[in-house]
Amino acid sequence: MNPSTPDLFGDLFAEPSTPKSPPGEGQISGPAEQAHLLRTQLHRHAHAYYTLDAPEIPDAEYDRLFRQLQALESAHPELLSPDSPTQRVGGAILDAFAPVKHRVPMLSIRTETDTEASGAEAFDTRIRKELGLTEADPAVTYVGELKFDGLAMSLRYENGVLVQAATRGDGETGEEVTANIRTIGQIPLRLPPDAPAVLEVRGEVYMRRDHFEALNERQRQRIAAGAKGEKTFVNPRNAAAGAVRQLDSGIAAERPLSFFAYGLGDITPASLRGPFWPSHYDMLMQLKAWGFPVAEQTSCVSGASGLVAFHQRMAAARDALPYDIDGVVYKVNDLAQQARLGFVTREPRWAVAHKYPAQEEMTTLLAIDVQVGRTGKLTPVAKLAPVFVGGVTVTNATLHNELEARRKDVRVGDTVIVRRAGDVIPEVVSVVLDCRPAEAPQFTMMAHCPVCGSLAEREEGEADHRCTGGLFCSAQRKQAIWHFAHRRAMDVDGLGDKLVDQLVDSDQVKTLADLYHLKLDTLAKMDRMAEKSAVNLLEALEKSKTTTLSRFLFSLGIRHVGEATAKELARHFGQLDAVMVASEDALLQVADVGPVVAHSIRTFFDQPHNREVVQALREAGVTWPEGDALAPTEMPLAGITVVLTGTLQSMGRDEAKEKLEALGAKVAGSVSKKTHYVVAGAEAGSKLDKAQALGVPVLDDTGLALLITGQKP
Ligand code: IVH
Repeated sequence: MNPSTPDLFGDLFAEPSTPKSPPGEGQISGPAEQAHLLRTQLHRHAHAYYTLDAPEIPDAEYDRLFRQLQALESAHPELLSPDSPTQRVGGAILDAFAPVKHRVPMLSIRTETDTEASGAEAFDTRIRKELGLTEADPAVTYVGELKFDGLAMSLRYENGVLVQAATRGDGETGEEVTANIRTIGQIPLRLPPDAPAVLEVRGEVYMRRDHFEALNERQRQRIAAGAKGEKTFVNPRNAAAGAVRQLDSGIAAERPLSFFAYGLGDITPASLRGPFWPSHYDMLMQLKAWGFPVAEQTSCVSGASGLVAFHQRMAAARDALPYDIDGVVYKVNDLAQQARLGFVTREPRWAVAHKYPAQEEMTTLLAIDVQVGRTGKLTPVAKLAPVFVGGVTVTNATLHNELEARRKDVRVGDTVIVRRAGDVIPEVVSVVLDCRPAEAPQFTMMAHCPVCGSLAEREEGEADHRCTGGLFCSAQRKQAIWHFAHRRAMDVDGLGDKLVDQLVDSDQVKTLADLYHLKLDTLAKMDRMAEKSAVNLLEALEKSKTTTLSRFLFSLGIRHVGEATAKELARHFGQLDAVMVASEDALLQVADVGPVVAHSIRTFFDQPHNREVVQALREAGVTWPEGDALAPTEMPLAGITVVLTGTLQSMGRDEAKEKLEALGAKVAGSVSKKTHYVVAGAEAGSKLDKAQALGVPVLDDTGLALLITGQKP
């Protein structure tokens, strides 16, 4: 068990002599009681998951409990009982659906839990051994597939017509869900004439993430409108399962599902069962030709190194996929070799699932802090017991605002499910209500700013509360100063967070302009401030006075004015005074500036104290070359988005960024479908992989040189 997982079920097997009790259970003593307790827990969670479509704990947690029980049963075979959850593959059958006996059982696959590359190597080693291959024999060919996070489905076609769709159930008997499955547009209802008399196609029904988000949004609106019996779904797989098991296929049809084929079940004539297709890959290509979706990532790879490379390639592509995967699947390609390898109990020896680190885990919510942002936004932040999820240790997750915190009904002391997918910031998905401590109070945003005590207000139509203290609020002031000094703003080297805290707390710096009046002896008195560093800071402040208009505009910290907008403003108006007096209409003429931004800029410069700060900064000697507005035609790269990654030979990344931006290009931090070029230097990592996965053109130093000299790369 993950050491940082909360003690929901007690650390059952760590130290049998000092057992801990899960909530609501008595003291645990011997292995028999432990097994009994685990079975009870697993049965309950399997029911919540399979029958109610409302899982209470993350999959990773269920898997851990399951493996604990397996370990316990193998250490104490006398404890095995036929009703143990380890003795069957799937879930319960709802009474409402007709049972379907699978003519060819629906198997499961062994899961390689080692999420490192070594997991793939171990599979190849095992396969070679079982096939009796020596080092002299050639590499085994495998098919690498994605492990889709949906639910297994068997589609039966007789004489080319879809006659039955069934869930896996316990692997032997599933549920008839044909009416619901017919609503999935991607599933052919009729096959071409060359299809066999009987064909069972096995694959995964899943829900795309964007469809899932849209469904949950609709559900929220229904709930808000007072609809009874509606709920939101925890994740796409859970939503897909709910849709497949809808008794009313009209409702199922509103929940857009998708399908990928990955295997075969029953097939007639029997002659097709074996040698008709020499390989698994050929079979998949035939299914594709008959109209079944087969994931384009499905690849033939060679040997352990091929598996490892596939695992890594898919890990990099994972976040850009429109649907969830929880790993990859490796299958021996040659059907004759598959036949030789056969099965162990209910699992083929020729296939293995190789997982990626879980993207959802469970932990305890220790506190809800409220942070004050640079522009006064009050953000509730969940402080979590450290938990390893999505490849990193997470201790904080934003709850966005009071409405969001209430919607999820998170309370201090709750056990929560935390999700972190890719580069996305971690979020609290839901609460495990079962584990809520008694009398945990609902979260309410405080009426006053936790830092300065000013009134906290929420404007009509806005979700966020804001501290009304403005620069009176030291939290806002500190952040305004950090922002001002930032490398990409005024670039004041040596003005660290701790020093800003002290300067603000001791009232030495009340406005941005006060920075330029700091004296050596004041600075030298600050904690951990050697005279040398104080001298350096004064020099850095002096140096920062010579800047550019766009940096200066950005450094003011005007709400909604980021670096790119500041550059556009500088380019458009050429002079600060022109920006300061521009009407909202005039501001709307600037590229990227919409009504919200225009209003925010106007409001900023309408405040006398903001104009005073600007004036004081100019008087302190802050200066920049003022020029004329540039016409957009002088921007050959206007509208082009570029991502820089790896180490470039010809110039540093900052220099490349400046040059590209001077020509009107936008330099973005992450690759998406909207990226026009990725410039990749040495040791480029996941951004390069993502570019390749998305088919974004990749340039080297030469391509970059062409781009910044106005030529087509
Ligand atoms: S093959 C004989 N391939 O993972 C092997 N399964 O236990 C049968 N899954 O619930 C399964 N993607 O629904 C296979 N590319 C893939 C898969 C896949 C997802 C699911 C499947 C089953 C579980 C395997």
